[in-house]
Formats: sequence, structure tokens, C-alpha cells
Amino acid sequence: MTGKVIVTGAAGFIGSHLCEHLLDKGYRVIGIDSLTDYYSPERKRGHIKQAIGHKGFTLVEEDLNDCDIETLLDETECVFHLAAQAGVRGSWGSEFNHYVSSNIVATQRLLEVLKGHGSIPLVFASSSSVYGDTREIPMREGQSLKPVSPYGATKLSAEHLCELYHINFGLRYVALRYFTVFGPRQRPDMAFSRFITASLGDEPVEVYGEGTQTRDFTYVSDAVAATAQAMLYDGPQRVFNIGGGNRSSILDVLSTIERLIGKKLEIRFDAPAKGDVLDTWADTGRARAELGFEPTVSLETGLEAEIDWYRSHLRVMEGG
Ligand SMILES: NC(=O)c1ccc[n+]([C@@H]2O[C@H](COP(=O)([O-])OP(=O)(O)OC[C@H]3O[C@@H](n4cnc5c(N)ncnc54)[C@H](O)[C@@H]3O)[C@@H](O)[C@H]2O)c1
Repeated sequence: MTGKVIVTGAAGFIGSHLCEHLLDKGYRVIGIDSLTDYYSPERKRGHIKQAIGHKGFTLVEEDLNDCDIETLLDETECVFHLAAQAGVRGSWGSEFNHYVSSNIVATQRLLEVLKGHGSIPLVFASSSSVYGDTREIPMREGQSLKPVSPYGATKLSAEHLCELYHINFGLRYVALRYFTVFGPRQRPDMAFSRFITASLGDEPVEVYGEGTQTRDFTYVSDAVAATAQAMLYDGPQRVFNIGGGNRSSILDVLSTIERLIGKKLEIRFDAPAKGDVLDTWADTGRARAELGFEPTVSLETGLEAEIDWYRSHLRVMEGG
């Protein structure tokens, strides 16, 4: 065993892959996750099943706002903070409470505990949504940040909080701005998941806007490798773009899915969703130079893996 780490959001899409990656590397992993009902908790139990079968893994099934984090910190080498209320479109209206509670209040609570443990670094899962609907692409870490969704605003607040605890208490942190992550276990509200499940279930596919919007898609194993690598980083930078370099339009993605599944999709175009941006594109120069980030999985290869996963998990999907 290499050492002990904590992963918040351990049963989520990215968190569960991260836990498996760290366990494979020989770490003992304490996963914290309250299995929120944003999507099926049963599905999340499926995500974390493999890690739970590993002797180095412990799941603490609690809300970060209630959990006694202090008691878990003994001998911890890093805290990976991925727990969040994710999703741009759902962040308007009365649901915003959940975003504030899980993305801002819970992060501040974690930082309060960590400030007394200056040697434990924090790796925080931020988002490309902090940039907003900018024409300044590719997006660079130093450019102005104007989120256009309440979700993006909470992620930016959390980044600011990390920086405040760094300045005032010397807390070490790295914030990774993930650009649309995809692959097996992708959240059901995300575009690829919706497209693939609709296609496999012979349902029409709903597209927000005209489908010409572009995203820089990042395969989950590339995002996870960068996240694990970030724990070892002790240089001067604190914020990194993590983008897979698979920049494509939604229409291109749809035609790739059609080709891979071998079926023509019935596409229904809907109004653009409020809070969605037109384009994302990561400048990953900093992450490449400082973290050795080297994304390796193409859109097509990653989509094939995600389709395979959905094919073999359709019954779980139907449960929620
Ligand atoms: N998926 C992406 O493309 C993407 C892009 C940018 C940023 N991110 C960020 O990466 C992280 C992981 O995203 P994901 O797609 O895996 O989401 P996810 O919803 O699958 O995982 C988040 C997990 O956090 C847990 N959680 C939420 N609030 C909690 C709380 N208060 N206490 C304990 N557990 C809580 C949920 O139960 C869930 O299992 C999030 O911080 C998200 O904002 C994701």
C-alpha cells in the first residue's frame, strides 16, 4: 500500500473511476458520498461496487455537510474533492439550494477542516463552466471568468474559496477545470448518455439548440490520470484546464453515434438551454507542461466504450 487518500463524490461518474485508479496504484481510499438522488442512488452503488470489493476501500456514506471529516484525516496524503451537485440546466430555480449546499457550503466546510492540516493537499474538481460564453477560445486559465449558469457560479465561488484558504492559511490546492467528461458511467443528464440511451431504446433524440455548439470532450481515464497526477504537483500554478482535445460539434457527435450503433437517429431540436455556452475549447499547455497531462483517448474510441457500457447496463438504467 502506498498511502491513504480521501475521494469525495466517490460513487459518482468520475469519482468512482478515480477510486479504482488510485486503488490500482496501491492507495488506500476513503470514499465519501451521500448518494444524492440527483440520479439513481442504485446506479451509484453500481458505480462503486468494484471499489467496494477491494480491501483498500472504505465508503463513508454521508453528506459532506454532516460528515466528521477531521476524524478521517489521519495519515491522509491528499483529499480529492469531486462531490458536487453537477449539471448546468438544473441549476436554475428552486434547485439552486442544492448547488449552494453541495458546491459552496460543503467546500468551505472541507477547507475549514483542511486549514489545520497544511501538509494535506486538496485537488478540487472545477469546471470549464467558470469561463462562461466567451469568444476567447481556446480558453486559457488566466483569462476573465464570467460563468453564465448558476452551476458555473458555484464552481467559481468554490475556486475562490480554495484560493482564499491558500492565501490566508497556506492550504495547498490544485483546481482542475474539467471539460465535458465522457465514457462508461457518464451521468444520465449529460448529452452523450441521453443520445446513446435514446438510440439504444429506439427513442427520439432531443438536442438543445441547433447542434452546432462545440465542446472539448475529455475521456474519463484521461481526466482521472490528470487528477491523480495533480496530487503530486507542488509547483507555482494552482489552476489547470483538463480538456481531451476532442473538440467536436453536437451534430458530429450524433453522426458518430449513428455510425457506431448502426442506426439512423430521429433528432428533435429543442430551444437552446439557458446556461449552456456555444463553444468550449481548452488550452491545455499548462497542464501538459506542469502535470505531464497527455490525453490519449479519441472521441470515437471513447464513444465506443461508453456505448458498450450502456449496452451492458441498460437494465440498471431502466431502474432509474
Ligand atoms: N462530468 C463532467 O463532464 C464534469 C465537467 C466539469 C466538472 N465536473 C465536476 O466533476 C465532479 C464529478 O462530476 P460527475 O460528473 O462525476 O458527477 P456525479 O454527480 O456523477 O458525481 C458527484 C457525486 O457527489 C455526490 N455528492 C453530491 N453532493 C454531495 C454532498 N453534499 N455530500 C456527499 N456527496 C455528495 C453525489 O452523490 C455523486 O455521487 C463534480 O464536482 C463536477 O462538478 C464534471
